[in-house]
Amino acid sequence: MKIFLSAFVLLALASSFASAFDPSPLQDFCVAIDDYRNGVFVNGKFCKDPMLVRAEDFFFTGLNIPGNTNNPVGSNVTTVNVEQIPGLNTLGISAVRIDYAPFGQNPPHTHPRATEILIALEGTLLVGFVTSNPDNKLFTKVLNKGDVFVFPIGLIHFQFNIGRINAVAFAGLSSQNPGVITIANAVFGSDPPINPDFLARAFQLDVNVVKYLQSKFGHY
Ligand SMILES: *[C@@H]1O[C@H](CO)[C@@H](O)[C@H](O)[C@H]1NC(C)=O
Repeated sequence: MKIFLSAFVLLALASSFASAFDPSPLQDFCVAIDDYRNGVFVNGKFCKDPMLVRAEDFFFTGLNIPGNTNNPVGSNVTTVNVEQIPGLNTLGISAVRIDYAPFGQNPPHTHPRATEILIALEGTLLVGFVTSNPDNKLFTKVLNKGDVFVFPIGLIHFQFNIGRINAVAFAGLSSQNPGVITIANAVFGSDPPINPDFLARAFQLDVNVVKYLQSKFGHY
């Protein structure tokens, strides 16, 4: 009995060391299937045979090229994640270049899977993030060339170009696929739309204002 018990304790200890918790999701979801022939992803991407891996699998070129900011918000994010660099699979890191027209903005959004560290290279950016309920505290800062700011994982954040010249920032993100939820687009532009009466009450707005916002952000 004694031997059985100590063996049991050892086994329990060993298994807790081997796998203490489930892996973090690497995309929005990874629905299980029984038939592998219909499988597209593992959690992340399939791994290439190491014998076939080349330097190009870890390489991207073009972050010197500004994105086109001629759009309603006046900014453009060029992403360099696992879609652009397959070698990032499972490594928990990626990058972006963000261009801002004069008075352009990267509107309030969150990254469900990543903390972001942003480095201002040109121009003057007003940046900030808001903490979760109930405080909803705003942490904000004006960034000039060479300044760095951190947006903690999951929190709503933004950058506004408050200068009269183009601004440029680079950022690192702690996921191969950080994901982006732009608040206005997700809430007012969902496909299919969320019932406008519900949104009117949620945002304490007239339903016609909600319908107007849905016509601006919607896919219809
Ligand atoms: C961002 O810039 C690229 C390259 O100029 C362009 O193809 C893309 O449409 C732009 N995206 C937005 C949202 O304006």
